[in-house]
Amino acid sequence: MYQPAPKTIEVAILPAAMFRLGLLALSSLFACGGAMAETIPMDQISHIHDLAVDPDHPSQLFLATHNGLFLTAPDGTATRIGDSRDDFMSFATDMENAAILYASGHPPGGGNLGILASRDRGATWQQAAAGAGGPVDFHAMAVSRADPKVVYGMHEGLQVSQDGGQSWRKVGPLPKETFSLAGSALDRDTVYAAAMGGLFLSRDGGKNWSAAFMDQHPVTLVEVSADGKLFAFLYGVGLVVRDETAAKWEVRSGNFGDRYPVKIAIDPTDPDRLHVVADTGAIVTSKDGGRSWVSYMGHDRETPELVAGARKTYEEYCQACHGKNGVGERPEDMSAQDEYGFVAPALDNSAHGWHHADGNLAHTILNGSPRNPRMLAFKDIISEEEAKNTVAYIKSLWSFRSLACQGALHMKCMH
Ligand code: HEC
Repeated sequence: MYQPAPKTIEVAILPAAMFRLGLLALSSLFACGGAMAETIPMDQISHIHDLAVDPDHPSQLFLATHNGLFLTAPDGTATRIGDSRDDFMSFATDMENAAILYASGHPPGGGNLGILASRDRGATWQQAAAGAGGPVDFHAMAVSRADPKVVYGMHEGLQVSQDGGQSWRKVGPLPKETFSLAGSALDRDTVYAAAMGGLFLSRDGGKNWSAAFMDQHPVTLVEVSADGKLFAFLYGVGLVVRDETAAKWEVRSGNFGDRYPVKIAIDPTDPDRLHVVADTGAIVTSKDGGRSWVSYMGHDRETPELVAGARKTYEEYCQACHGKNGVGERPEDMSAQDEYGFVAPALDNSAHGWHHADGNLAHTILNGSPRNPRMLAFKDIISEEEAKNTVAYIKSLWSFRSLACQGALHMKCMH
């Protein structure tokens, strides 16, 4: 499967030397003042290893990255939490206590972190345990939905803690090439593993595994919602869902093109709200249980009312050139030109509108195109808010693939 090329964004704020000198008082002063808060566009974060909904503010997501922990906002920015630059390979929240987070991975200098716990929403971390035979580096972790004291971790097989991460024991091997784990909402000893060879289930805390279905498709992720729905992504099939106790699966959506989600977070306050990290690193959101998808970036503008209003704006000012539903001025001839260059391009999936980030699209709408004067500056005709909502309308025409490949991430989709 396609793996994004390694690329890191380092935004140094406090020189590492300050920490070495023990000037922690100074760093907490900065953190309290907020003046040095590091906020960056989400598409500049490389290597999102895991994500979780902030149960206190469900429109925000915790992102466990290669370079510390971030909290996102729907405007498409992410703000660093705490000072950690650790490579958080796995991450989990305790749904009963929103302040408690777990993480594992490596420190920037190498070695393994063991299991870290934070009791202050990620501002500070303590090592809760080294793990069995540790320090471990869990590449997958899951808190049981049935009993949050039960935590599962993957490091050379499966490990389990029955006391909220304080003590750990090795359970045994996991299915080959396991990508993710999920704990049942019904039973503390039932655990699921998404693996290259399919979806697997254990009813005895991970000692014995059996195939959850006969299908051999690779399963890139598995998760259980607070209300007991089991979600899995089958490569080549799509996002499938069933009640934990049901036999039949429902395919919620199948139109992922050549992209696939690698991590999922289900909103504990609204199980129809899902957020996935695509293989490209984009975060894509569903508000209807996985049937349709929008970008996390700008998803607060993707309400039926705002999109319907923006559709009217589009029909009034844009459709004459860009065509109905954004098909373009000459959909039958994509290379049609006028005296200035190419005619009004398609804004749906078929041209390359999705190569631009939201901000760039809004900028073109407000300021026009320097290359073709037919694309007017609309800033005296529509407000900035209307332009941003028009971007949301345009994006409502896009497939999961275009959403996952938007902006800077499109380079990862050129293969
Ligand atoms: C008179 C024709 C015309 C109208 C009306 C028009 N456009 Fe355009 N638009 C164009 C042309 C031509 C281009 C190509 C510009 C270029 O090649 O740089 C363009 C480019 C764009 C682009 C950049 C697409 C890309 O892939 O780079 C966006 C976004 C866009 N228009 C949105 C809008 C919106 C939204 C409206 C209505 C508010 C609108 N346009 C109205 C002709 C028009």
